[in-house]
Amino acid sequence: MLIEPIRRNMNTVQILDQRELPASEHWLNCSTGDDVITAIQTLAVRGAPAIGIAGLYGLWLEAIRLQSQPEFSNRLQEAAVRISQARPTAVNLSWAVNQALEKIQGMDPSQTVSTLRDLADAMKVQDVENNMAMGQAGLALFSGPVKILTHCNTGSLATGGYGTALGVIRALHEKQWIRQVWVDETRPLLQGARLTAWELEHDHIPATLLTDSMASHVMALGEVDAVIVGADRIARNGDTANKIGTYGLAVLAKYHNIPFYVAAPVSTLDPATPDGLSIPIEQRDADEVRRFGRISTAPATIAVYNPAFDVTPAPLITAIVTERGVIRPPYQMAIDQLTEEAKNA
Ligand code: MRU
Repeated sequence: MLIEPIRRNMNTVQILDQRELPASEHWLNCSTGDDVITAIQTLAVRGAPAIGIAGLYGLWLEAIRLQSQPEFSNRLQEAAVRISQARPTAVNLSWAVNQALEKIQGMDPSQTVSTLRDLADAMKVQDVENNMAMGQAGLALFSGPVKILTHCNTGSLATGGYGTALGVIRALHEKQWIRQVWVDETRPLLQGARLTAWELEHDHIPATLLTDSMASHVMALGEVDAVIVGADRIARNGDTANKIGTYGLAVLAKYHNIPFYVAAPVSTLDPATPDGLSIPIEQRDADEVRRFGRISTAPATIAVYNPAFDVTPAPLITAIVTERGVIRPPYQMAIDQLTEEAKNA
């Protein structure tokens, strides 16, 4: 059964609280756009495609709340800006909100409400379809059983369902080509240990958990055939922002002659951002590094640097898998073409 991170009811949105996983499966009830913004900022829902879908549902909830108020459309625009800015790095969030704003232009409040609901529902369904297509496209990179290393969580929990990099892993598993998935725990918030390990166990995919610093050792032992990760934003030249620690893995993969793949939907490609240096990197709270859950693991006042993402330069990326096929360097022309085709679809 497909794990779903977001569900819609009549007038509310339910979000599976990923902060509580894997210890408990607790659903948050969101009835306003601000509830959704809080869920996104606290990482109750996270992962680039999932926050795009959640953001769109947040806009729908705001449209319901504001529909009988004066200045409906100005207020909805303001809400759209707040939602888009809830987290800055993943382009999927502003992409989803902007797409919806274009479609509701000139509509009255009640039409706006029903259109936003339908758009969010459709985006969730489309995302699962895209992920399954990405999984199939990713198979072309392999010719038999493999040991894969992955970072962070790019699975059902990070998307509408099935996953991007984890979708490729799922497709490989369906072909019985997974010998081993090495799961980086992903400091500081353990999306790999808590979420990816949970999803892989759920699907009975052979997996072994590593602390992040063990990746080089297993590569040196010849135990990794490929690294595959997701993305929060891919700049026009192919530079890719993803969970902090990804860049280090790409450098290690290069040294050990291991292919390094990124899997992401076309909505993560951002031709408006020329290169990695122009990608905004979210900085998060110091206590995420000073504490391990509720336990203090560092002096309470020690200065901390806590960027949530890093940028992997395009030359370290062997190929990018999208729902429309695999692209290889140089990336710029393919990125321009895929985003243009998506706009006209
Ligand atoms: O901070 P997070 O957990 O939202 O970071 C998520 C990632 O970096 C994922 O790899 C990325 O969003 C792709 S999810 C399909």
